[in-house]
Amino acid sequence: MRMWAAVLVLGLAVSSCQAEFGPPTLNISLDDVPEERWATLTKVFDADFLQKAAAEVIDSTVPKWVHHAVKPVVMALEKYIPQPYAGEIRGLAAHFGGSLSDVIILNFAYEVSAFCTSVIAQDKKGNVYHGRNLEYPHPVLRNLTVNVVFLKNGTEAFRGTSFAGYIGLWTGQSPNKFTVSGDQRGSEHWWNWWKNVVSAFIFRRSPVSWLVRETLEKAENFQDAVMRLSKIPIITGVYYIVGGVQAGEGAVITRDRTGPADIWPLDPVNGEWYRVETNYDHWRPSPSRDHRREVANKALNATGQNNINMETLFKVLSLSPVCNGITVYTTTMSAATPDKYSTFVRPPSCRHN
Ligand SMILES: *[C@@H]1O[C@H](CO)[C@@H](O)[C@H](O)[C@H]1NC(C)=O
Ligand SMILES: *[C@@H]1O[C@H](CO)[C@@H](O)[C@H](O)[C@H]1NC(C)=O
Ligand SMILES: *[C@@H]1O[C@H](CO)[C@@H](O)[C@H](O)[C@H]1NC(C)=O
Ligand SMILES: *[C@@H]1O[C@H](CO)[C@@H](O)[C@H](O)[C@H]1NC(C)=O
Repeated sequence: MRMWAAVLVLGLAVSSCQAEFGPPTLNISLDDVPEERWATLTKVFDADFLQKAAAEVIDSTVPKWVHHAVKPVVMALEKYIPQPYAGEIRGLAAHFGGSLSDVIILNFAYEVSAFCTSVIAQDKKGNVYHGRNLEYPHPVLRNLTVNVVFLKNGTEAFRGTSFAGYIGLWTGQSPNKFTVSGDQRGSEHWWNWWKNVVSAFIFRRSPVSWLVRETLEKAENFQDAVMRLSKIPIITGVYYIVGGVQAGEGAVITRDRTGPADIWPLDPVNGEWYRVETNYDHWRPSPSRDHRREVANKALNATGQNNINMETLFKVLSLSPVCNGITVYTTTMSAATPDKYSTFVRPPSCRHN
């Protein structure tokens, strides 16, 4: 929380105006064996850069003593990680020359530190829009951001936005079915976190970003996605925000480890045509030092249901402090128009007032 306050202060001090850019897009064929799938990453990212970046993320996220304490645990965990993830992680380590334990740590390092804002909104015609900002205090992630298109038999099965070397998804779209984003719920201490990781695999619980990916791959439609994202046990609490293709198909799922704590659907008939989720339970006030929820609500009210679309949603997600010094990227998407899926990497000076 202290970090958050510091970021807000820093955000005010920064005034330079760097451009935002679209990240590279990578095709991953699910027909390839898991060990080989990510080999194409080298076409987009330099292996040296990836190794340095991974080391930076790990060093700044995982305290040294945890890193060392965890290594043997991580190595033993490998046999608990289900397919295809185990194979993909093994392949990443092999292709990029990192150690297996570093790749595993990296995949769990992101899991614990995602601040975010997600919005779902429905216009007067019943079109559903979904936008999200993803925040991490690692500037290097801007250059690791990648759109990944997962192919089956040469056609798109689903897509998402991720970081090179990270196999889970916090943001994704199943074309003409639904869109999903995940926002962190609560904060964990590392020592508890790693205990959770161990118990997770013993109890076969899924990391939250793996459940997003699995849902994108398997769910038939919005309803099915909401059921899966609500019920399947996961490592830690999270908010899942889901948008569908028809009017009324939108919900914020507040997750406990074992099941839903709350499901908060769109209710456009009663004027509730949007939902904003940051990192707090929606039925509680957000902390007075964090104004993201309030600013987003106000901006959506000002935009109005008549004027909401991908562009105006992007503008809402560009307002300070919804967009701030640690915002890595903004994605806007709408499952009914899958070609409009769009991600922009944000400069540290993100603000569009
Ligand atoms: C990140 O990408 C930006 C824009 O493409 C580039 O100017 C910068 O040098 C890159 N930084 C690193 C560390 O690669
Ligand atoms: C894969 O695509 C080819 C041609 O596009 C088609 O003939 C074949 O039936 C497809 N296979 C599966 C398993 O969908
Ligand atoms: C990715 O896959 C799509 C669909 O098969 C194809 O149209 C596109 O050319 C591929 N892009 C690259 C860079 O391979
Ligand atoms: C937005 O509008 C709704 C409905 O009129 C109202 O209840 C809510 O207080 C408004 N929120 C803000 C932050 O203005």
